[in-house]
Amino acid sequence: MKDSNKLVQEYLASIPFDRRLYRQDIEGSIAHVGMLAKQAIIAESDAETIIEGLESIQKEIEQGEFQFKTELEDIHMNIEARLFEKIGDVAGKLHTARSRNDQIALDLRLFVKEEIGRTINKIRALQTALVELAEGNKAVIMPGYTHLQQAQPVLMAHHQLAYIEMFQRDKDRLQDCMERTDVLPLGSGALAGVPYPVDHEFMADELGFSKVSANSMDAVSDRDFVVEYEAAAAITMMHLSRLAEELILWSSSEFGFIEIGEAFTTGSSIMPQKKNPDVAELARGKTGRVYGNLMGILTTMKSLPLAYNRDMQEDKEGLFDTVDTLRSSLEVFAGMMKTIKVNTERISEAMKTDYMLATELADYLVKKGLPFRQAHGVVARLGEYAISKGKNFRELDRKEYRKFSPLFGDDVYKITLESSVNARNVAGGTSPQQVGKALTRARRLIK
Ligand code: ARG
Repeated sequence: MKDSNKLVQEYLASIPFDRRLYRQDIEGSIAHVGMLAKQAIIAESDAETIIEGLESIQKEIEQGEFQFKTELEDIHMNIEARLFEKIGDVAGKLHTARSRNDQIALDLRLFVKEEIGRTINKIRALQTALVELAEGNKAVIMPGYTHLQQAQPVLMAHHQLAYIEMFQRDKDRLQDCMERTDVLPLGSGALAGVPYPVDHEFMADELGFSKVSANSMDAVSDRDFVVEYEAAAAITMMHLSRLAEELILWSSSEFGFIEIGEAFTTGSSIMPQKKNPDVAELARGKTGRVYGNLMGILTTMKSLPLAYNRDMQEDKEGLFDTVDTLRSSLEVFAGMMKTIKVNTERISEAMKTDYMLATELADYLVKKGLPFRQAHGVVARLGEYAISKGKNFRELDRKEYRKFSPLFGDDVYKITLESSVNARNVAGGTSPQQVGKALTRARRLIK
């Protein structure tokens, strides 16, 4: 049994994970100290000594020479203690007009701001891979599904472009989250503000914030930006998991629409025919953990009284895990999409029966004057008949068509998968012309 001091120390410590914030912590301290000197709260020469000390500590950390100590609890106190060792008592001036409460709020905001930018870039890279795939399959017609039943033919590119839209919204959401992350909390102190003439604008400028917090109690207790980032990440993972699911289905021997590159699948040692889509499956699985992290932070923040509470230290591990999981998932997907081979033969085979043209036949009758509901009824009966005879629509003869409606003429045989796709030439539709426009739009979005 460890003694209780040690036990409690380890329980309270955040250094095993918040050491990851060392760069943000030092950057924040340097801006803070620069401001203290500028405002004559401390002497210029002291500020210089402190800044030099902080910079050399950063080097030590980056060269792996820094000794992180659990008994010093967190990244803030680890760095400050080392600063004392290096420059002596003047180190004690760094924490003037500051508290760990506004300090950690700052570090975390700097971290999330950076990650928002990185995540957006990773999403863009995935979009680029998707656009290339769509471009390469511009002319491929495939079944479009509802209820996972063949519904209407679509261009494969149209399907892929749907994901471009999802990921575009994800980038927008992150950009929007940036709005509320980009707020400087320094100057709030422990909770009530500080009794020194601090210059918020100067620090905001130094640290690249466009806004300054309006209420010190809110500033030290607000983690909305963490919740928002994790919510945006959860939605992006949801999109990835939908894409993953389709890759898994499409690469199965039942579908056989695509093949995923060797590097992104694993073989089975005893079943040589198998190529398992493990990467896609894991992304689908990891989505659960990212959702869990979101639930975690929401639950941690629930019912917390103002202002800072130690519960909030629990904001970090879930956030870091989400950041890492999302980043690696996006990276691996961008790589995987580039290896996808489309098997057009298997796709055509899947469309051997032409019942997907039923809507097109109904629309044909509508164009000949029949109200849509009636046309729908006619084609439903026609379809039942065709299936019972084991025939496709295109295999029915004139007499058979006429039994169901006198409006059917010879031009009914002009209805094909291609004509159905071409006919959907409305904004956002699957006609080659619209998909061409959508590709242009997509290329603009990823610039
Ligand atoms: N390690 C703490 C956290 O991550 C830093 C802030 C501590 N503040 C305090 N008053 N104990 O939340």
